[in-house]
Amino acid sequence: MKTSVNIAGVEFQNPVMEASGTFGSGMEYSEFVDLNKLGAVVTKGVANVPWPGNPTPRIAEVRSGMLNAIGLQNPGVDVFCERDLKFLEEFKNTKVLVNVCGHSAEEYIEVVERLANESRVDMLEINISCPNVKEGGIAFGQDPKAVEEITRLVKAHAKQPIVMKLSPNVTDIKVMAKAAEAGGADAISLINTLTGMKIDVERQQFVLANKTGGMSGPAVHPIAVRMVYECSKAVQIPIIGMGGISTWEDAIEMMLAGATAVSVGTANFYNPTATLDILAGIEDYMRRKKIEDINSIVGIV
Ligand SMILES: Cc1cc2nc3c(=O)[nH]c(=O)nc-3n(C[C@H](O)[C@H](O)[C@H](O)COP(=O)(O)O)c2cc1C
Repeated sequence: MKTSVNIAGVEFQNPVMEASGTFGSGMEYSEFVDLNKLGAVVTKGVANVPWPGNPTPRIAEVRSGMLNAIGLQNPGVDVFCERDLKFLEEFKNTKVLVNVCGHSAEEYIEVVERLANESRVDMLEINISCPNVKEGGIAFGQDPKAVEEITRLVKAHAKQPIVMKLSPNVTDIKVMAKAAEAGGADAISLINTLTGMKIDVERQQFVLANKTGGMSGPAVHPIAVRMVYECSKAVQIPIIGMGGISTWEDAIEMMLAGATAVSVGTANFYNPTATLDILAGIEDYMRRKKIEDINSIVGIV
């Protein structure tokens, strides 16, 4: 049975990764999950300098999902390289995707250049879709011209292949996917979170200090499947699909819709072994359906 998938020349032993920001840098989950068994570890967004993130409360549970307004808190790229990348050194079987954030094109480029000579970094995932920061993030991801421009700039400075992470908070995600492809992206990943809001009716106040937060979890899955399907018809580059994946069925559904690989996010919070459970489920499905190569189901619906 062949479970490996290839994205922009990088060979992943299987198509299951976790979604940025829901797994730390792997270290936090390593007592639950043998990181060597994952297709890839995708790290939390990292910026050129440390970011404090947003004030609390910045997490709220909602029906079949959650809202978060973390605001991309991170220790900055220097600490990330010394501490987190060093930790990941020993997990030779898994690939490492580093999620990159910034307030401006210059900040993205600074991080990308800093990571250029780090051999442990297999790919860069460029987050142009975070709804929880005021400048940068989603500001780049909601305008096709800006998507194309930032993709081109990052690509010109990057040594590793780049994956542009798209926002679902747009009228037509196909337009953004095409813009990323036109800018030279090696792949795209989607979806980031959908902007939501929750109000505490007793206190008559916003639940999150930021008022709005990004919605994720099982409730967003059908939206993500639809968007992955649409993008897979619109571009030639590979897609990493995510959004509400919590079971192997969700992962297979995403691959049938056109994703070459999948990321598991919110599910990790209530089931720390979700990634490995999903991988086992995919393998059982392949055996039951006599699927010799997982790539043969990508985009076949
Ligand atoms: C607490 C939290 C933090 C996140 N941080 C990041 C981040 O740093 N960079 C990023 O690109 N996406 C981030 N995301 C978005 C996820 O990677 C993913 O795209 C989204 O949650 C949808 O997948 P899910 O429904 O499986 O969680 C975050 C999501 C959550 C819930």
